[in-house]
Amino acid sequence: MSRIVILIPADGSRAQLAKWLEADGHVVLTAESISAATEQFGSLGNADVIIGDESFGARLAAQAQGTPVLILSRQATVAEAVKAMKTGASHYQAYPETADQLLIPVHGALAETGADRSGDFSLGGDSPPMRALLEHIGKVAPTESTVLISGESGTGKELVARALHARSQRRLAALISVNCAAIPTHLIEAELFGHDQQEDHRGLLEAAEGGTLFLDEIGELPLDVQGRLLQVLAGSTANVRLIAATQRDLAGLIESQQFRQDLYYRLKVVSLDIPPLRDRGEDILQLAEDILTRTSRRLGKPKPGFSSEAKDSLVSYHWPGNVRELENAIERAVILGEDAITTSLLAIETAAPVIDNLAAQTPDQTMEDYFVSFVTAHQDQLTETELAERLGISRKSLWERRQRLNIPRKKTRKRGPRRDVS
Ligand SMILES: Nc1ncnc2c1ncn2[C@@H]1O[C@H](COP(=O)(O)OP(=O)(O)OP(=O)(O)O)[C@@H](O)[C@H]1O
Ligand SMILES: [Mg+2]
Repeated sequence: MSRIVILIPADGSRAQLAKWLEADGHVVLTAESISAATEQFGSLGNADVIIGDESFGARLAAQAQGTPVLILSRQATVAEAVKAMKTGASHYQAYPETADQLLIPVHGALAETGADRSGDFSLGGDSPPMRALLEHIGKVAPTESTVLISGESGTGKELVARALHARSQRRLAALISVNCAAIPTHLIEAELFGHDQQEDHRGLLEAAEGGTLFLDEIGELPLDVQGRLLQVLAGSTANVRLIAATQRDLAGLIESQQFRQDLYYRLKVVSLDIPPLRDRGEDILQLAEDILTRTSRRLGKPKPGFSSEAKDSLVSYHWPGNVRELENAIERAVILGEDAITTSLLAIETAAPVIDNLAAQTPDQTMEDYFVSFVTAHQDQLTETELAERLGISRKSLWERRQRLNIPRKKTRKRGPRRDVS
């Protein structure tokens, strides 16, 4: 249980944020202004985390006395993020739409201060590949080495990046995360490196000074930006530790000339491979148990148990979406609220991996036909993220193909757990 202060004007979103945090077991205090907050609760420095609207900006960080500040924005542009970081905010993001979008950064912030006494997001595992990974992380984290993290979608790449930062000398400085796949191509260069001419538009690289820059989905970086990045890194005296992550096979991308070999070697000083969930043996059961505890608590539901048949399925299923898919399956099951979680409640036994489906498609079926039939057949059961994972494409390209092939997303959906419980 932690003390969290929310400083945003009273409206629907403030109530929602408070609800999510309370369901996660925190004590939440809300106020409309900094002065109202200090009057009501004394120093803001007593809070474990402060969540504030961007309009409070620098004043908030100045009053926070070292307490992590999470700034929420209606726009959330990278330029604003840089500004927010410069004012001393430790985290910056768009207003969350789901509980996780709020709880994940809050747990991250709490973990940095050692104040996290609620959810358990720590990496763990006893299977040989996880033990090897954890040992590796323990050795690499305190060094200054550049690290390249690779692993399938949903395996925990971001979690590992956070763990590396949190266990380094830099833990009190910023960890700046950039999702290379999420910034429009024509903006990436300015976002990363800033505009030379404009004082107030510094890049993320500079904003990470003294801390860690996490370049997520580095495989999505366009070739020309890769070249610039290499140049900047070579000429830079910035005191920044670099961590990159990719779910794409960079060696393969090098072969097809989509990724620069020299950048690859620059990043791959140390490489950490995160094992897919299906290779973690009995770890899956412990992980499922932890996620179940966390999810039941968050949703305010009694904690059910797994049936023995469900446990077998958990271990034998191939988990194409890895830990994220496991979290979704469990959340769905908890929401449906039976006493015991069975295989069918997890809804995993029927989910054949798409790779197999693709291979099995009839020769006269085009990829587009396949796409349309897959999406229409599964969109009622799967979230957009799960659909994209099964198809092996990003959510962005799922959306683009929906537009192109004219299969609009249904507005009302029967499920979509996070929306349902809000
Ligand atoms: N060992 C673990 N224990 C508990 N939760 C975990 C673990 N590994 C991953 N998770 C959870 O699984 C989800 C996916 O993790 P994360 O975002 O770090 O993966 P990723 O590899 O970056 O995924 P993507 O490829 O989708 O970006 C997160 O909600 C994270 O908290
Ligand atoms: Mg990720």
